[in-house]
Amino acid sequence: MHVLHVVGARPNFMKAAPVYRGLERLAVRQTLVHTGQHYDDRMCTVFFDELGLPKPDVDLGVGSGTHALQTAAVMERFEPVVLGTQPTWVVVYGDVNSTVAAALVCSKLGIRVAHVEAGLRSWDRTMPEEINRLVTDQLADLLLTHSPECEDNLAREGVDRSKVKFVGNTMIDTLVRLLPKAVVSWPDLRRSLGLEDYALVTLHRPSNVDSPDRLALIMAALEQISHSIRVVFPVHPRTRAQLNAQDLIPPVQVTLLEPQGYLAFLSLQAHARVVITDSGGVQEETTYLEVPCLTLRANTERPVTIAEGTNRLLRDDPASIVPAVASVLNDWKPNGRRPALWDGHAGDRIAGLLAVK
Ligand code: UD1
Ligand code: UDP
Repeated sequence: MHVLHVVGARPNFMKAAPVYRGLERLAVRQTLVHTGQHYDDRMCTVFFDELGLPKPDVDLGVGSGTHALQTAAVMERFEPVVLGTQPTWVVVYGDVNSTVAAALVCSKLGIRVAHVEAGLRSWDRTMPEEINRLVTDQLADLLLTHSPECEDNLAREGVDRSKVKFVGNTMIDTLVRLLPKAVVSWPDLRRSLGLEDYALVTLHRPSNVDSPDRLALIMAALEQISHSIRVVFPVHPRTRAQLNAQDLIPPVQVTLLEPQGYLAFLSLQAHARVVITDSGGVQEETTYLEVPCLTLRANTERPVTIAEGTNRLLRDDPASIVPAVASVLNDWKPNGRRPALWDGHAGDRIAGLLAVK
C-alpha cells in the first residue's frame, strides 16, 4: 500500500493534512507531491509548518501561468513521478488546476484516484473551478464527499453511487485540531493589530477582482463600511496585483494585510463580527465557527453553509455589501448548526477507506 497526495494551492494544504495524519497512524507508506501552483512563503511554506505536514517529497515547481499552461505543466512534470513511484492510490483535493491535472495523468496510467471534496457544484461553468470539479469527478475511482447533496449531484452526472462515500469535511478536521492553538495566539495578534470590533474580508475570485470596475466598486463599499466598523483585509496575491495595477489605495480604516498564516487567519475569523468573502473554504470555516458570513458571489457550490450554516449569498453587486453588513451588525442572532460529519474525524474515515482498498 502506497498513497501519493497531490497538493498545490493554499486550500489544498488544510484539506490534505488530516488525511496524511490518518494514514500515518495506520503506518501506510506515503508520498507528498507539491505542484508549486502556489509558491510564495505566505501562500504555501507557512502552511506546511503550521499544519505539521512534512516537507514535500517532490516539488514540481510549476508556478503561475494561463490555465492551459499551468495544467499542462503539472501533467508533464507529474507523469514521471507517478510512473516512478507506482502508488496504489493518488489522492487529489478540491478543485484547483493541480487537482484536475493530476487526475488526468493518473486516469491514463490506470492508477486509482481518490477525490477529496467530490460532488460540489455551483452549476456555473464560467468558474474555472467548476470545470475542474466536473472533470475530476468523472475520472475519480473513489469520490469522498463532505455533504449529502454531493452524492445526488454526482449520480445526476452518471457517477456510480458505489464509488461515492460521505466522509465529512477534512478542512474542518484541521480547524478542530488547531482552533485551540489559534485562540492562544489571539491576544498578541489582537494587540499588534489594535483590534476591537472588525469585519474580516478575503477576496480572490477572478469574477470579483480581475475586473477593474468591479474591484473599484468593492473597495468603495469597504470604505463605506469602514465608517461603522474597522475592516481587516488580508490580500491574496491575485488581488494585490490588481489593486496595485489600478492604484487603489484604501482609507486607513481599511487595513490591508499580507496573506495570513493559517493560525492567524483562523483566529481573525473566530473573532470577527462579520466575514465578507468569496472563498470556498472560508464559507465552511465560518459555518463551523458560527460567525456570520456574507459571500460576494452569484452562487455557491457549498449550499449546506447557507441551509445549515451562517452563510448568506449577497446580491451579485458590490453595493449590496453595505446594507448586508449593517443588518448583521444590528440584528445578527446565531442561527446555524454544524453540518453532519463536520466533526474532526473525516481524515481518519478516508484513511480507513484507502487502507483497505
Ligand atoms: C487558485 C485556484 C482557486 C483557489 C485559489 C486559492 C485554480 C484555477 N484556481 O486561484 O480555485 O480558490 O487558488 O487561493 O486553480 N500568485 C503569486 N504567488 C503565489 C501564487 C500566485 O504571486 O504563490 C499570483 C500570480 O500572479 C498568479 C495569480 O496569483 O498569476 C493567480 O494564481 P493562480 O494559482 O493561477 O490562481 P489563484 O487566483 O491563486
Ligand atoms: N486562509 C489563510 N490565510 C489567509 C486567507 C485564507 O490561511 O490570509 C485559509 C482559510 O482559513 C482557508 C483557506 O485558506 O483554510 C481557504 O483558501 P482560499 O480562500 O485561498 O481558497 P478557496 O477555499 O477559495 O479555494
